Amino acid sequence: MKKPNPDRSVTRRGFLAQTAAGAFLALHPSLVFGAAANTKISLGLIGCGGRGLWIADLFQKSGLYQFVAGADYFEDRVRVFGDKFGVPASRRYTGLSGYKRLLESPLDAVVIETPPYFHPQQAMSAVEAGKHVFVAKPIAVDVPGCTVFADAGRKATANKQVFLVDFQTRASDFYREAVGRVHRGDLGRLVLAEAHYPWQGGGRTGPPADPAEALRNWYCVLPLSGDFIVEQSIHALDVATWILNSDPVRAVGMGGRKLRPEGSIWDHFAVNYTMANEVPLSFTCIQSIPEMKDEITCRVFGSEGVIVTDYFGEVFIRGNEPYKGGRHADLYTDGAVKNIQEFHQFILEGNYKNPTVAPSVRSNLTAILGREAGYRQGELTLAKLLEENKRLEPNFKGLKD
Ligand SMILES: NC(=O)c1ccc[n+]([C@@H]2O[C@H](COP(=O)([O-])OP(=O)(O)OC[C@H]3O[C@@H](n4cnc5c(N)ncnc54)[C@H](O)[C@@H]3O)[C@@H](O)[C@H]2O)c1
Repeated sequence: MKKPNPDRSVTRRGFLAQTAAGAFLALHPSLVFGAAANTKISLGLIGCGGRGLWIADLFQKSGLYQFVAGADYFEDRVRVFGDKFGVPASRRYTGLSGYKRLLESPLDAVVIETPPYFHPQQAMSAVEAGKHVFVAKPIAVDVPGCTVFADAGRKATANKQVFLVDFQTRASDFYREAVGRVHRGDLGRLVLAEAHYPWQGGGRTGPPADPAEALRNWYCVLPLSGDFIVEQSIHALDVATWILNSDPVRAVGMGGRKLRPEGSIWDHFAVNYTMANEVPLSFTCIQSIPEMKDEITCRVFGSEGVIVTDYFGEVFIRGNEPYKGGRHADLYTDGAVKNIQEFHQFILEGNYKNPTVAPSVRSNLTAILGREAGYRQGELTLAKLLEENKRLEPNFKGLKD
């Protein structure tokens, strides 16, 4: 028999606990512009770069969707996408506001694969235009962005639109089962958590020459990416906050720029969080380590056992109530494929609960809190972070609207 969840009482307050709730099941699909007599969902891609082209391929291969429009700041990017996916020239949009013109065109849903800075406003505009939204992580780079994103998710639910954040781990059956068991009490009382994201990526790109160059190489530009603790490490912090089902209360951060001194983002962080359920979470991340075998790992220890998760390895529970779990051959692809399939399913079922939104806002704020504590080389509370409400502003001078 399952034990009661000792941490249930910490399901949570205020800002972070605001879910995309109030959802209900409707019986008919909200497909206005279905590409093929209500069978295929018509899509627009916003952001036709690396991930955009890669995931567009998965959408198309699923046989459930048809791309009918594309937007990218750069004409060469949208041209490559349009040529590959048969999108007519009249439905290819460029410039910073190209996505707005895309949203005026007849389509059911959008896939947002732009740099993180743009996600909140583009997602909100898409919801306001009546489109279903599939969006890449991370959801925002700053607190105001998180607020807009949370509002967009709530609005989508209220307006009967599907809104899905593409975390691959949240789509995995191994992760879902293991985390569900923790929430049911299989680890007993939770005591201590750790999460890590060391990886070889990141490159050594220096500061961009101008704002256009920054849009092409946005990863190393703080206001566009949110720094790599937000842009990359969110995968690890999202799993940790999912398992703990708790908000951070405060963070003590350290870190710096020893490997990539020329960029505007850091190359390592070490953050100790105190969570609302009084479980300490110890987190580290580092980039640009040659030949590093990438890890996105999390372990949470409880009085009855330990849950171990690795994006590139196994997921299991060891202890008095063990779970064998398993290993994904390729979670990077499998998770996206599952999200693409569930996005379609939710639209057809009229399932507007949008359960990925609130947890994505929580983990994103956790990452931002860690970044800001790190920049201060000290302590910062979540309450203070929210009160400061600091906005990151990229330089768009001279860019085409
Ligand atoms: N495992 C994952 O979930 C995963 C993996 C890779 C990337 N991502 C996410 O996908 C997103 C895109 O990353 P990427 O690697 O494809 O980057 P990318 O630079 O290859 O592509 C981004 C594209 O957006 C375009 N763009 C920039 N500003 C725009 C604007 N205002 N309007 C329209 N287009 C604009 C750029 O020109 C570029 O073509 C990021 O949020 C990233 O974190 C997620």
